[in-house]
Formats: sequence, C-alpha cells, structure tokens
Amino acid sequence: MTLQIKSLEEYHKVYKGSIDQPEKFWAKQARTFEWRKPWKKVLEYEFDSPNVKWFIGGKLNITENCLDRHLKDRGDQIALIWEPNDPSQVYKTYTYKELYTEVCRCANMLKANGIKKGDRVCFYMPMVPELTIAVLACARIGAIHSVVFAGFSANALADRIKDATCKMVICSDYNARGAKLIPVKAVVDEALTMDCDSVETVLVFKNTGDKVKMKRNRDKWWHNEIEGQRKTCRAAQMDSEDILFILYTSGSTGKPKGVVHTCGGYMVYTCFSFKNVFQYKPGDIYWCTADIGWITGHSYIIYGPLLAGATTMMFEGVPTFPDAGRFWHICEKHKVNQFYTAPTAIRALMAKGDHWPTHYDLNSLKVLGTVGEPINEEAWNWYKEKIGKNKLPIVDTWWQTETGGIMISGLGDISPQKPTYAGYPLPGIQMCLVNSDGKEIRGKDKEGLLCIKFPWPSMIRTTYGDHERCRQVYFSAFKGMYFTGDGARRDKKGMYRIIGRVDDVINVSGHRMGTAEVENAINEHPQVIESAVVGYPHDIKGQGIYAYVISQDKAVDDAFRKEILQVVTKEIGPIAKPDKIQFVSGLPKTRSGKIMRRILRKIASGDTSRLGDVSTLLNPEVVKAIKAGALS
Ligand code: WTA
Repeated sequence: MTLQIKSLEEYHKVYKGSIDQPEKFWAKQARTFEWRKPWKKVLEYEFDSPNVKWFIGGKLNITENCLDRHLKDRGDQIALIWEPNDPSQVYKTYTYKELYTEVCRCANMLKANGIKKGDRVCFYMPMVPELTIAVLACARIGAIHSVVFAGFSANALADRIKDATCKMVICSDYNARGAKLIPVKAVVDEALTMDCDSVETVLVFKNTGDKVKMKRNRDKWWHNEIEGQRKTCRAAQMDSEDILFILYTSGSTGKPKGVVHTCGGYMVYTCFSFKNVFQYKPGDIYWCTADIGWITGHSYIIYGPLLAGATTMMFEGVPTFPDAGRFWHICEKHKVNQFYTAPTAIRALMAKGDHWPTHYDLNSLKVLGTVGEPINEEAWNWYKEKIGKNKLPIVDTWWQTETGGIMISGLGDISPQKPTYAGYPLPGIQMCLVNSDGKEIRGKDKEGLLCIKFPWPSMIRTTYGDHERCRQVYFSAFKGMYFTGDGARRDKKGMYRIIGRVDDVINVSGHRMGTAEVENAINEHPQVIESAVVGYPHDIKGQGIYAYVISQDKAVDDAFRKEILQVVTKEIGPIAKPDKIQFVSGLPKTRSGKIMRRILRKIASGDTSRLGDVSTLLNPEVVKAIKAGALS
C-alpha cells in the first residue's frame, strides 16, 4: 500500500530520504500499484528542453488501479456518491463493482463510436456521475480526455476542441446549477460551427430532459448508445509516458495552453498526495467541492481518491442553493470526514452570516482543506472556528494545473498550523526561492520567486502541440528549474506562504485567468482601441478584474460597458467579465511602448498615494487623468 505518514517526525525523515534518494523513494511508492510490465528505469530528465520521463518502459492502465484492483477487497464499498443540485432529488451511489461496470460499458460505447487509443475526447459536462464514468472510460481505452469547464463560452470551447483536434465531444442537454438551467448542448452546437472539423460525434447525455436539437449523423444520445454494451472491457495497455489527459489553463500571454499529463507518474503522485494530505482512512467519506473542469477535480475527485480506494463525492450544484447552508447540510447528510474547498467559497459563505453552519451537525469532519488561491487570515480563522470548531486541522494546499498534484501542504493533523501558510513541501518536492537573477535564496525568513528544482512524477510533460511554449513558459526563466509564476515567503521553520502570482495571471474566485486573454476579448469590441486589465483585491473573489479601456467614437456610458461585458462573455465566458471598467484617454507606457501595469494595479487597488517614478513614462500626463477617474 502507498505510504501514509503518521507523524511530523516521520514526515521529516521521509522527506529527507525522498530528497537524498528520489528515485529509490518514488520506485518504492510506484511498486504499490499494479503494472502490466515493470519499468526499466525510474527517471530520466533534463529541464532545458524540457524532457522528463518517469517509470520508463513501465506498462499499465490507470483504471485497473482505480477500479479492478479494488474489486476483490472492496467491491461492495461505495466508490462514488453523487449529490444532485436539487436537494429534494435522491442522491446516487456507486460501489466499486458498479463503477467498474459502468466504466466498462461506457468504454465499449466509446469504442463502438470509433474512439481509439490516442484519440482526443472533449467533455463539456455538468457535475454528474456520467462525467466521471466517461473520463475513466477514456482512460480505460487509452483515449485522451480534455475536460472543458462548462462555464466557458462557445468560442473558448471551439478553441480548445481545435487545439486538441478532438474526435468526439461529450456533453449534456442542459446543466442544472442552482435555480438556473444552462443550455449546454446549444453551446456545443455553436462551437461546432467554428471550424471544428475534427469532431465526428457528439454524445449527448440526457440530464434534465429539456428539448434540444440533434444533428443527424453527428449527434447521438448516450442512453441509446450505451444500451446493450458489454459489462467488461479489457483495459488498453499504456506506456507510463503515454498521455492520460490534456487540461487547458491560462498563462500570462496568448491563448490558454493544453497542459499534458501522462499515465504512470500522475497515478503514483495523485494517490500518494491524496492519502497523505487528507490522511484518508478506510471508511472515510471524502468530499472535494471543485468542478472536474479544473485540475483539482481531476486529481482529487477522480484519480487520487479512486486510486486510494476511497469514497469520493461529487456535487452537482452551488454552495448557496437553495441557501447558504447547503455545504454544511451535505456534510451532515453524508457524514463527510474530509472536506476540501476554495477560499472564495469560504468567503462567500462567511459573508452570509455565522449562523448557517450552526444548523448542522458537523461532527464527522476530521480534516478541512483549501485550494486555488491564497487564503486570507480572516477566512482562515472563520473556517477554523466555525467549521472546524477550533479542533480540526486546515490543510492549505498549494499546487497548479501543471504540477498535477499538491506540492506544499500540511498533512492532516500531523503538521503545524499557521494561518495563511501552506506549510512544508510534500516528500519528493524540492521547492526553492530564487531572486530575479535566478540565484537561489537560501536560509530561513526569506522571500522570493517560487521554483522547483527537481522533477516529481506528476509534473507537466509538455503543452499540447507546442513543446517550445512549455519550455519557454516554465523552464526558460531560471536555468535548471521549473518556475511556478508565484512569489512566496519561507519562514523561520521552513514553512511556505504563497504571496500570489508575479506574472500577468490573475486569480478570480479561484479561476485562473490571463490578463492578456481578457484584454484580447475586450479588444474584439469594434469601438475599443486598446485596453489593459489588472487584478485588484476583492473581498469575496480574492481578485476582481479591473479594465482600463480606450475607446474612440462611442459615448462612454453604461450601455457601452454592457456591450463590453457581452463581448467578454462571448469570447471567454461570464467568469472573465470585468468587475470595473474605466474609460481612459491613454494608458501609461514606457518609452519602448510597454504598458506600465504596476501603476494601473496600484490605481485599481485604490492606492494612489505612491505610484513611484513616472518620469520614465512616454506619457506621464495620463496618470493624473486615470487617477482622477479611478472607480472605487
Ligand atoms: C494559486 C489550482 C495560494 C497559485 C490547483 C497557483 C494558490 C495557481 C494555492 C494555480 C494556495 C493555488 N495558496 N495560492 N493554496 N493554490 N494557488 O492551475 O497562484 O488553477 O499558481 O491550480 O493558483 O492555479 P490552477
């Protein structure tokens, strides 16, 4: 069985061993899984290209480790609980045996519809069990899944389908979220009008049963296609370094890129980190509230928990429907032991009042987790007091789409607690701080740019279809290191606190967004000449989006603002809508024509006192005007 660390002393000991002899350490973990063929070499890497390979020559199928190997000992244990959007609807459960059968039937359905090993399948789905089932079905036959968060627009979906040349799209008819019905199939139809020639089949899962249009010879109903499919499906033999999935994420420039994760290393690391961070014990009920459209859902709703033989829960709805007690109601109803959510959800629920959690019995809880953005002290304290009754540990887990799994975090109740500090790196993870020249900053009580100087099994292998971009974004800033894009502080004890992004990426309600991406969307409006987007502190969202817009002819009024919001919704989706739009006559630029975002960030955050030296600007006079027109 995968190692589960039981004390702080053991952590320090294991950590040291994992750094002194990383290959030995990871080989030991990897041996706890089922491989069709053992690997010949544990690790081969160099960061310049980059080229990273783990468990070379090893053959496996991750679903045999998520499902088949559990059938003997825990076939009748519940693997998956599904809690619907509407609390009056009955919830569903699947035992490991049942999940295995459903995944096999679904895998056979995919094969019957022409999906083969290596084909890309795009998902645009609500949080229903069929999403998990079909993701695993892809993995079973060696198809590559690319899950797109169902809040993205048709344009954004089309970009992702084209980039990965997906052969199939799997969607629902409608999604139910809170009181809203979202016409998912219609969004897919629209996306497919935008040169998505690779798509041969759209598989539609009947979720709400509301009416949709079906295109002949292209669109098929899930329930028709799955009928009569065999209940077993031999798993494809995959190489350790074959692609398991692609997941798109935003960076500081250009369009979102497809982060590629591979089978072997991802399997070993997600299981290991899940068991240790959440201190999962047999019989526990684990709930992560993330959407499977993001990496947290991939690694810590589906793969990590199922690999560990856990009971994992999926929730279809939103935290405030039908009321702000929903999360706590679900914790009581299903006797949740580990609860994992995002700071933005905590802040939103905190703002609804302290009484909500008091109506429910939260005694089953053992570990509370947070992820996605820095947690402020107030939210941390509220979580600790009101949900944890001052008794439960909070694991503040720092990681990224690119890291595949949690990199820095406390381990359940084992690790020391310090508000706003994520804590120590997990075993095998060699974090470091560097200065802007790339020189490592050693010692305690230091601040710098956060890097990782040695490979770990679940790290990004490439960006799909564009390896050079992967090199450039993550491995070119500092030689021999993976650069995270975050700034961090290391305290006297060696614990890390994440300060936030140091690049042009913002984090809005835990959703990662490139400011350039939002600018490009705004610039699509024909009357917009130029725009600059920055983040600013926001009480609930963590960061809000502040857009400075130069327009030409159009009278600047609220109707124009609305049009800009519509353009952004169309280009990216509602999550990227600016909270504030300030019309300006010019943007502060350096003599080389670069926008001085530092100044714009300060003004957006309401801090106009010390803007620093503006004399080097090409147009210092615009700063005064921008300051005067700033929106509070
Ligand atoms: C931020 C989400 C502070 C960070 C798993 C990172 C965090 C980005 C934390 C990755 C945390 C994530 N504390 N900041 N516990 N977790 N972040 O790819 O800036 O959606 O670089 O992965 O979120 O976001 P992503």
